[in-house]
Amino acid sequence: MTAMVSRAVGAPIARLEGPAKVSGAARYAADYPQDHLAYGWIVPSPVPRGRLDAVLTDPAAADVLAVLWHGNAPQLQSSDDPELAVLQSDRIAYRGQPLALVVATTLEAARRAAQLIRLDITAEEHDVELRADHPDHYRPEKVNPDVPADTGEGDVEAALVAAPVAVDVTYTVPALHNNPMEPHATIARWDGDELVLYDSNQHPSGIAEAVGAVFGLTAERVHVITEHVGGGFGSKGTARPNAVLAALAAWVTERPVQVVLPRQAMFSVVGHRAPTVQRLRIGAEADGTLTAIDHQTWTQTSRLFEFVESAAVVTRDMYPVPNLRTAHRVVPLDVPTPRWMRAPGEAPGMVALECALDELATELGADPLDLRLRAADPGLAACLRAGAERFGWSGRDHRPRQRREGDWWIGTGVAGATYPATAMPSTARVRALADDNFEVAIGAADLGTGARTVLAQIAADELGVPVEAIRIRIGDSTLPAASVAGGSSGSASWGWAVTGACRLLKSEHRDEAVFDTTDLVERQNRKDRHARGAHFAEVRVDAVTGEVRVSRLFGMYDAGRILNPRTARGQFLGGMIMGMGMALHEESVLDPAAGTWVNHDLAEYHVPTHADVEWIDAAWLDRPDDDLNPIGARGIGEIGIVGSPAAILNAVWHATGTRIRDLPARPDKLLE
Ligand code: MOS
Repeated sequence: MTAMVSRAVGAPIARLEGPAKVSGAARYAADYPQDHLAYGWIVPSPVPRGRLDAVLTDPAAADVLAVLWHGNAPQLQSSDDPELAVLQSDRIAYRGQPLALVVATTLEAARRAAQLIRLDITAEEHDVELRADHPDHYRPEKVNPDVPADTGEGDVEAALVAAPVAVDVTYTVPALHNNPMEPHATIARWDGDELVLYDSNQHPSGIAEAVGAVFGLTAERVHVITEHVGGGFGSKGTARPNAVLAALAAWVTERPVQVVLPRQAMFSVVGHRAPTVQRLRIGAEADGTLTAIDHQTWTQTSRLFEFVESAAVVTRDMYPVPNLRTAHRVVPLDVPTPRWMRAPGEAPGMVALECALDELATELGADPLDLRLRAADPGLAACLRAGAERFGWSGRDHRPRQRREGDWWIGTGVAGATYPATAMPSTARVRALADDNFEVAIGAADLGTGARTVLAQIAADELGVPVEAIRIRIGDSTLPAASVAGGSSGSASWGWAVTGACRLLKSEHRDEAVFDTTDLVERQNRKDRHARGAHFAEVRVDAVTGEVRVSRLFGMYDAGRILNPRTARGQFLGGMIMGMGMALHEESVLDPAAGTWVNHDLAEYHVPTHADVEWIDAAWLDRPDDDLNPIGARGIGEIGIVGSPAAILNAVWHATGTRIRDLPARPDKLLE
């Protein structure tokens, strides 16, 4: 497989999808023309808690086909996901929850009618404020993705008391929102009693199953088409209300119906990264040997569905210590349901762990890089060393406020990174075509990461043919079922199935081969392997205004085989830039009185722009992990956001002497 990398850099592969995307030919969910298409517009709840008694509409409103609400909507089957029980109950669980759907022949008419609707609501007192001392906190059975809430080894309390040096610090990470360029969108059409969904998601077969279930259909009778996706970051990992609403409206109106969420609705309807309050206690010997870590986290979920942002999980595998405790508590509030956002758990958890470790280094008078090297496993240590060299880490003087240029204080920071290497069961089919080409079919979704490109490379390599001979078919639930494009596992999972099918085709001289990885994957996941990384940041902070600029941001990774340097670099940098947003800009502000996100658009929810990114780079130790899976890859989609915010915040401290313990590092927090 060594030839793969050199082939990947060349132009031919880019021709697979690049021009279609930049010319507008690539079709996204709402881009499929339909005869008699109708448009659905959500009427959101104006209160965070209460009861919807009635919906009063103007029966003569022009162009309106239907106004659906729980008083008239068809009854749905129950689902594992209560968020999919749309328009089924009079209970209001959060502000912004869809209470009605207006369906009209034009988008404008639907929107206008939705604005004129009168809702009779009995509002109730609400509670949307996360606090660590909230009396309703409980210990969940499991936390995301499906791991124990609490773990413990040794005697943490005794070890902390005995430690000559210790820190006890609390970090808070605010609620954050995924903002993929393409909003959540569905066109639904019933062909008889079969359902067709053009839907923007990360898992076509999963959507078919989940949406089918609420309509009492098996997954085979739901056809999900997901040719291209303009980003998801986890928010499209499972079916969202837009898909069910569109299908419901299409059923009632007997027309295809499109439901595209406006940006504002995405803040409530499709999930957020739950805020966390995290207490970190770390004990060490005077020489910097870590003796104890206690990581406790408090977070929120909705009253509809328990999702627990698993921030302390990252501490379980990062630094081996004899005394280790991790714990999660969650409180249900009158808020929208939190969901996956890139590196759910790891991203906020690593902020607390790696910033607390930096605070410990300060207490010890130690270089923060040396402290980490002492505790790191070989993979992490290799990233730290190689990264420090490339970045030009100077550890001699790691005290704050050592360098000033004009109005700017300059500082540098480091943080480790980790993300579990997993694969999920998938099936692929490979077919020899008459023209010496091969068709590779798997129901994977390309979120814009380059899935087609990488799968074509893998198949070409296995079959010993040029990539131009590979026809990739993905993005369709009727293809062999693939796992979710999530958990940094897409290439490993789908590539494994494709590899298996190609090998079968070749070794048995067949025209068609199908390969299912279910059994193999189960064995592999018991290996508990991780990708590792190290992030380095240089910031300058304006001494007058408190403005933070990231002059340099560098990531070094040990993620197994890198299948395609160009697409991998995009993943790493994208994660790091999202980490920059987390450290400096992003913050979903929930108004306690109104119970809603007040900055629910891109004018007020600040994500990094090109101007915020000055110098950024990523590199990797190309160490294929062939014992893990035939792809040798550990996954790269999320590790860039794990630790990069901490590296920036540690650099902010180095520049200014101020520890930012409640994110983001806004200028007002840095002014004295
Ligand atoms: Mo990602 S949060 O695993 O889609």
